[in-house]
Order: sequence, then C-alpha cells, then structure tokens
Amino acid sequence: MIRLRGQSKSDIQRRASWLIEDDQLHLWRIGLDEPADVVDGLYKLLNEEEQERVAGFLVDQQASRFTVCRATVRQILSSYLGCDPQKIEFEKGEFGKPHLRAKWRKQPLKFNITHSADLGVLAITKNCEVGVDVERIRTIRGLPRMVERCLVRTEQDDVMNSDVNHRGREFLRFWTHKEAYLKTYGVGIRQPMDKVTIDLAAPPSQRVVNHSDVFPDETKAYISEVWPGDDYVGAVSVAGTTEFAIETFSWVGGREHA
Ligand SMILES: CC(C)(COP(=O)(O)OP(=O)(O)OC[C@H]1O[C@@H](n2cnc3c(N)ncnc32)[C@H](O)[C@@H]1OP(=O)(O)O)[C@@H](O)C(=O)NCCC(=O)NCCS
Repeated sequence: MIRLRGQSKSDIQRRASWLIEDDQLHLWRIGLDEPADVVDGLYKLLNEEEQERVAGFLVDQQASRFTVCRATVRQILSSYLGCDPQKIEFEKGEFGKPHLRAKWRKQPLKFNITHSADLGVLAITKNCEVGVDVERIRTIRGLPRMVERCLVRTEQDDVMNSDVNHRGREFLRFWTHKEAYLKTYGVGIRQPMDKVTIDLAAPPSQRVVNHSDVFPDETKAYISEVWPGDDYVGAVSVAGTTEFAIETFSWVGGREHA
C-alpha cells in the first residue's frame, strides 16, 4: 500500500528536469482547488480543444478543477520532456485514453490521469501502459445494488461482511482496482466491472485473478493500492508483471516550478 505524501515544492524546485527509469512509476498528487488568479494563469497553458471543454462545464468549480488538472499535467510532463507545457500534443485511443502524440515519444513516456473531488493524480511510467483511479470515500447511494452489479460473488461477500460503516470504502477499494486495471488497457469502464475479479490480499502481480476474457492478449497487470489522502482510496496498475518502484510527489501551488 502506498501513501501519497509527496515531496515539497522546494524539493521540486531543486530539480530542473525529471528522469524516469524503466522500472519506476512516478505518482503525482495534484491539489485541484486553487485561487482564481492561479486558475487564470493555468488556463493559458491549455490548447483550444481543452479551453472549449472548460467552456462546456456548467459548474464553475468543475471548470476550474479541470483547468488546474490538465494544465498541471502539461507542466509536469513538460519537465520530463524538456519542452514548453503548451507545446505538448495529445491524441486519444479508441475509447478516449489520452497518449502523447507520436512526435513527443522520443522519451517513451506513458501516463494516465484520474481526479475525484479536489484531488488529481497523474501516474507516469517509461515504457509500460499505466492506469490509475482514485475515489473520495463517500456514502454511496444504492450501495447493495452497486455491489451486486459491479462485483463478483467473493468480492460481494468481502464488502457486505465488512463493518457497516466501512462498506462504502471497501466497495471503492475493489472499484478503483478494477478501474485502474481497465484504464491500463485503455478500455475504461465500458467493460462490465463484474468481468474482472480482484484479490485485494494477493501480491501486486497477482491481484487480477480472473478477467473473463475481457482482453484476448496481454492482460497481466502489476496493481498497487494507493492512499492519496485520508478521505481517498485508489489503485495504480501497470501492464505486465514486472515489479515497479513507486515514487510519489506532490504538485503544490498550481505553478510551474522555477
Ligand atoms: C475513462 C473512464 C474510466 C473515466 O472514469 P472516471 O472515474 O469518470 O474518471 P477518472 O477521473 O478516473 O479518469 C478520467 C481520466 O481518464 C483518462 N481517460 C479517458 N478515457 C480513458 C480510457 N478509455 N482509458 C484510460 N484512461 C482514460 C482521461 O485522462 C480522463 O481525464 P480527463 O478527461 O480530464 O483528461 C470512463 O469515462 C470510461 O470508462 N470511458 C470509456 C469509454 C467510454 O465508455 N466512453 C463513453 C463515455 S460517454
């Protein structure tokens, strides 16, 4: 289990650029609630399509959180790639997974983003596809129905046999493992969640115990649980079974470091 405490801004400022090795996974914790002047500055880093997305949000808070998340992802990736944040170009996979456009793949970075409430997490690896999911722990309306729809029998028993006050959290632990796994392979949750079985007690390379032929080919994953904060649960998944060393960092203040 990984706690995302991260390094401070001054640690980050000491480093001009970021290097990542084949067996490393970097997890960046991003605070999404920033003052209006910071959000305005970050907005300028977004491209036209992203600015159109901002305009499409009906709730101001969602618009500013999206702005902070996407602009910060640009800033962080740019410090690995050694380029201006605005210059990074993304493309999307068949079901919407963002990747770096081919011309940015000189350094073969893979990444995935998740956000829940005021927290974003960016996962970065060098060569292997990665998927990440975090969820704020909350009361889940219609929990028994969700449990039945999304979990297999053994998982359902684990959740429903847990302390009544912790059932929501236990459900979200399974949920985030499944979503992180499905996001690794770019399909997201269009695949029914109950087609994937998770063993939360297994070592990271054996947590997916059954995927009911969701994917015909490469389907192994190295999945670690992450606790990005007291009120959150999460999981990060990397394609394959190789062990990854996970390093965690925080992006503070919504500004590019010097
Ligand atoms: C991707 C998906 C799992 C997101 O679920 P979520 O819990 O709402 O969101 P999260 O915060 O965990 O992740 C969202 C991020 O995942 C990334 N993402 C989007 N599609 C993805 C995919 N297919 N695989 C992996 N990552 C994906 C994006 O970066 C997105 O954030 P952004 O749009 O702000 O950049 C969900 O939308 C999904 O299953 N999509 C699959 C495609 C699909 O069915 N689309 C129809 C939607 S109408």
